[in-house]
Order: sequence, then structure tokens, then C-alpha cells
Amino acid sequence: MTLSARETAWARIHLLARQPGAGSIRPLFDADPERFERFHRKACGILLDMSKTSIDSEILAALLELAQASQVTARRDAMAAGQIVNQTEQRAVLHMALRAPRSAGFRAALPEGGYEDASASVEETLERMRQFTRAIHTGDIRGATGETFTDVINIGIGGSDLGPFMASRALWTVRSPMRPLYLANADAHNWEAIRPRLNPHRTLMLVASKTFTTAETMANARVVRGWLERNLGEAGARRHMAALSTNHEATSAFGIMPDRVFGFHDWVGGRFSLWSAIGLSIALGCGWDEFSQLLAGARSMDEHFLTAPPEQNLPLLLALITAWHVNGLGLKAHAILPYDHRLSRFPAHLQQLEMESLGKRVTLAGEPVRHDTGPVIFGEPGTNAQHSFMQLLHQGTTPVPADFVLVANPNHPYADNHRLLLANGLAQAEALLRGRTEAEVTAEMRKAGTPPEEIARLLPHRLFPGDRPSTTLLLDRLDAYTLGQLVALYEHKVFCLGALWDIDAFDQWGVELGKQLAKSILPELEPAGRVGEHDPSTAGLIARIRDMQGN
Ligand code: F6P
Repeated sequence: MTLSARETAWARIHLLARQPGAGSIRPLFDADPERFERFHRKACGILLDMSKTSIDSEILAALLELAQASQVTARRDAMAAGQIVNQTEQRAVLHMALRAPRSAGFRAALPEGGYEDASASVEETLERMRQFTRAIHTGDIRGATGETFTDVINIGIGGSDLGPFMASRALWTVRSPMRPLYLANADAHNWEAIRPRLNPHRTLMLVASKTFTTAETMANARVVRGWLERNLGEAGARRHMAALSTNHEATSAFGIMPDRVFGFHDWVGGRFSLWSAIGLSIALGCGWDEFSQLLAGARSMDEHFLTAPPEQNLPLLLALITAWHVNGLGLKAHAILPYDHRLSRFPAHLQQLEMESLGKRVTLAGEPVRHDTGPVIFGEPGTNAQHSFMQLLHQGTTPVPADFVLVANPNHPYADNHRLLLANGLAQAEALLRGRTEAEVTAEMRKAGTPPEEIARLLPHRLFPGDRPSTTLLLDRLDAYTLGQLVALYEHKVFCLGALWDIDAFDQWGVELGKQLAKSILPELEPAGRVGEHDPSTAGLIARIRDMQGN
């Protein structure tokens, strides 16, 4: 049987991963004092250090061979050309068009044949968003009682919440024009916590939903609309509402004026939509210039991704590192550790971006995948993470590769704090690599005057195996432009992994069943609701809940 180029490339990866010591990192540094120089790359102002992984020249060459055999470049070019790369939903994938000038000429293939001019519609929507933002900020558009808007509440979930929330958290300062707030959870405790901070006369409500059918978002939108109506009357409330959606019929049925609807197209996936009308809360909250810079930064990463050779291409390299960890070494979790508190929602955004995209079990052709796909993504900003889950990364039974995001220059004057932050980020990565030997622990305990029998008792607990992989992304500073670059870097990493694994990284059928079942359970929780067919556990829990509620 002859193997395809792809199968041969995978076989090579597996062979390299089975070599003795394949996961070791420290010996690579011992053997090559220039390792850092040879295994870091810098592009778009981002330095990617991959020297603290077990990838050596031979493995990197094999991974690049895999990328070639998987036609990552050809698939990338098909995406940029607006072809239908989201095959199960028959859609083009053009978030890159959202941050490109019109002259870039992005076109989206239509399932029925032909193309639409994606860049033209992007330009038109951006201009409407810019004018609306300016009018809100200058007070040309005011609330029903003549007051200026000071707060904007974005009601959305998943991609209609996480991206804008993450970016606003990163970019908002006390000098920003409005306060952006985010309401996502169907749990009305979320609204109850936000409501006391809002004055209905000064609050603008954005209903952010690509489909305008998402149950949680519509439930929250009805609650907030009701609050506005009670305070401002029905006509008054309408002046406080806008929608960010592709579903114009539904926005109008909800009572949103057509000139307050900012649209986008189905070639924008939810988790890639913060650059579209879904980003309006970023523009309103942080300012139009910030939003424009965010788009410009992402565009610069797009240009890098589209033109840089594979061995210098940051998104591809990040993807190959993950492929090595997941498929070569069998490491199925991945931590995201931004050492910048402004990025505190970045791990949450990447959880959706990576896990909704890469949590797939069949190939594009519908065959079961032959390799593991997306790892579990989790994270917290440093240094908080060090006091919660880092213990497991240092001494747990399985290594968890981590991405450290470090920012050289802060946007505050507290230089001592910043040094402390950076020292901790660097130290965590160093500790994962170095570990702690028996000799080191013994010497330290002896020096502290610990009796020998106590040293013997505690020694195994205090050893760190080391040789645990991490990747560091170093930014000069974090601003709208570099944030755009960073987020786009991960978006393209996800694309590359989708291509390597031959899966559809742009659909999300796995979330549908739960939505359907919730719909059928909903009436069963009403006081007189009739309970339908369920597995015994679900039926039992429904019965207990109804008992507890006295129904
Ligand atoms: O949970 C699935 C999902 O479709 C996500 O992909 C999406 O970001 C989210 O729901 C919200 O969808 P919508 O913007 O249509 O309300």
C-alpha cells in the first residue's frame, strides 16, 4: 500500500515522537547555546519564542513538511479568495475582509454560484458604524429624555459577547468615551448585578446576535427592553435600542428601527465576528480610533499570514507547535497565560475560538479523524494563575503546554509592579523548563537547617520534573493595534490546525443538540407542564426541581 504525502508526513511525526527523549527540552539547550536565537521568530512586532518546546530542527522540518502535505497554503489562499471553505454550512470564511481596505477586493462565493463584493459591504457598514459612534459621542443622538448616552450594554453570547468583551476589557480606560457593559448569561442574576449600575435615561442597548434567534440573548433582550419601556415608554425605549445582526426581519419584529440595525454576512463566523458590526460596543465604549487601530493591527497580521514563508509564519508555527504537542506527544490540554490584566478575558475568548473551531471528530469528508484534534483550552491572567492551577502544570502527572503572553511596557506608571509581573511570567516558564533536582532541593533544605530525616520525607514532594513545554509571545506594548495582531494571530493558528487535521474549523454542530433539548425541556418546567420522555436521570432531576419549586 502506498501512503499519501499527508500520511507519510504524519507517520514521520509519530516516528519522531516515539524516539527516546522526544519530549525533552533541557538537553536541546545543553547541546545548542544558540537555541533561543534559532528558535524564536519576530514578525508584526510580536516575538514568538518556541525554544522552550521539544521541537528541534528535524522536528520542525517534519512539521513544515506536514503543513505542505496538508496544503495549508493552498487552503489559506482559497479562504482569502472567498471560496466556500466552511463546507458543512456552505459558506465562505472572510473575517479577513472585515479589517481590509476596500481596495483589497475581497469577494465571497455564494452557494448558488457567483460572488458578492464583500469589501464593499464591509466599507458601507463600517462607515455607518463610524457615523453612529460619532453621533452618540457628540450627543447628536441622545436618549428619549434628551440626555447623552454614557453607558452601552451589549446583549449577546458566545462570539457576540466574548470577543467584544475581551477587547473592551483590554482597551477601556477612564478617559474612554462610554462605559461598555456585557450581558450574556441567561441567568438573570447577571442582569440583576448590572442593573443597579445603569440609568435608563443614559443607557444604550445593543442586541448582538448574528442569528437573532439565540434563546439566551433574546430572553435578556426582552428583559432589558422591558426595563427601558417601564422607564421611558415604548416609543422612548426604541430610541435606546440598536441591533447587530444578519437577520433584519427578526430585528424589525423586535422593534428595532431599520437605521439602528448594523448588519454583516454569513461569511463571518460568530467567534470571528468582533471585527464586524458585533464590535460596535468596542467602538462606542473605547472610541472609534481604538476600533480602527484594532482592525488595522489585525490586517497587518493577515498580511503577514498571507505572505510570510512557512518557516517564518507565526500563525502556522503556533499551529505546528500545538500539532506536535497534541499529536506527537499526546498532550491534550493547553493553558493560555496572559501576563497583562487587560487581557483577563483573552483566555475566555480563545476557549470559544479554539474549542468551538477544533472540537471535531470527523474530517471534511465525514470520515472519523485519525488523529486527536483540539486540546482543552483554559487560562487566567498571570500572576493570578500561579495561585490557582499552576501547581498542576509544574508537578501534575501530565505536562500541559502553556502560552505565556508578556508585554514589555505597561500603560501605567507603576514600574515596580510591572517588573514583578514580568519576573513572575519569566520565572514560571523557566521553572517549567528547569524543574528542580534532588541535589538542589537537598542543598536548599540543608542550608535552612532541616534535619536529614525531614529532608528525606519531603524530598519527593519538593522535586519538579521540569522539561515542561511553553511558548512565549512577547509584545513591546499592548494597545489596540497590537491587540488586533494578537487576536488575528490566534484566529489564523486555528485555521492552520483545521487544515492540518482536515476538519471544518468553521461550523459548530456540536452545540445544536443541547439547544434543541433545552427547548423541549422548557415547557416541562412550567407549573402545569407535562414531563416528556427522558433518560431516568434527567427525568428524576426535573421531578426534584419541580418538587423544590412546589410545582
Ligand atoms: O453557541 C453557538 C453559537 O452559534 C456561537 O457560535 C455563536 O457565537 C453564539 O452561538 C451566538 O450566536 P448568535 O450571535 O447568533 O446569537
